[in-house]
Amino acid sequence: MRAVALVENTTKEAGFDTVHGLGVYIETPKHKLLFDLGPDDTIFNNAERLGIGLTEVDAVVVSHGHYDHGGALAKFLDINSKAKIYIRKQAFVPHFARVGGENEFIGLDAGLAENERIVFTDSATEIDELFVFSDVGQSLDTQSRRALLKQTPAGYEQDDFDHEQSLIVTAEGSPDGRAVLFSGCSHSGVSGILSAARKYRPGVSAVFGGFHLFNPNTGVYEPDEFIDGLAEELAADPAVFYTCHCTGDKAFERMRGTMGEKLQYFSVGVSVEL
Ligand SMILES: [Fe+2]
Ligand SMILES: [Fe+2]
Repeated sequence: MRAVALVENTTKEAGFDTVHGLGVYIETPKHKLLFDLGPDDTIFNNAERLGIGLTEVDAVVVSHGHYDHGGALAKFLDINSKAKIYIRKQAFVPHFARVGGENEFIGLDAGLAENERIVFTDSATEIDELFVFSDVGQSLDTQSRRALLKQTPAGYEQDDFDHEQSLIVTAEGSPDGRAVLFSGCSHSGVSGILSAARKYRPGVSAVFGGFHLFNPNTGVYEPDEFIDGLAEELAADPAVFYTCHCTGDKAFERMRGTMGEKLQYFSVGVSVEL
């Protein structure tokens, strides 16, 4: 299988678009899929430059109901006529970020929930060698997470991220059950998500995703002790980690000091064979 970063905040190569968001193209023996789409036209422009045909994509997994992961969904449904979209029903609940005393909408277009190609996932959904799960059963209390809200009939509430899901792709024919985990922003915490993933697929040997270690609206990072603790935990894990997006440059550099080559940056244009 192969994973290519189509949408991310940064790139090391000239000619690509970059934006705050995430979108990954994944090729498996049976599927051409996208894990998240990013917020805008970035995914279409970068896919074209890389020669990746998005009309051939047959499945899309949207990790959670934030615009920087699913904002491009309406246009994707226009240009692609066959892909099913696997998403949590709760992803279409209005989501907000607290920015300077105001609640700023950061959710998805709720009208798209009616689209006939949308498939609402259960807490665990299997699609051939793809497996999507959301029952992490653990939650984080960080300053970057506390700034995120959802709107219910009772008003604004702290987001509990029941709309977040992650994807595991099992390498076909792998004798040791080797599998790769994709997590969007890891709002539920990357270590909790990884533990939950291993209950389903013990052979997870690579992890892709943002670790949400800073608040993109304020630029404030989680405390150094928190970042260092996570780095030590992941350094002791057998998996390799490809991170990006809401991990933030400073947290990446700090964690890299502890994790070395076990932590890689997954910027636009990077392609990883697994
Ligand atoms: Fe998010
Ligand atoms: Fe994000």
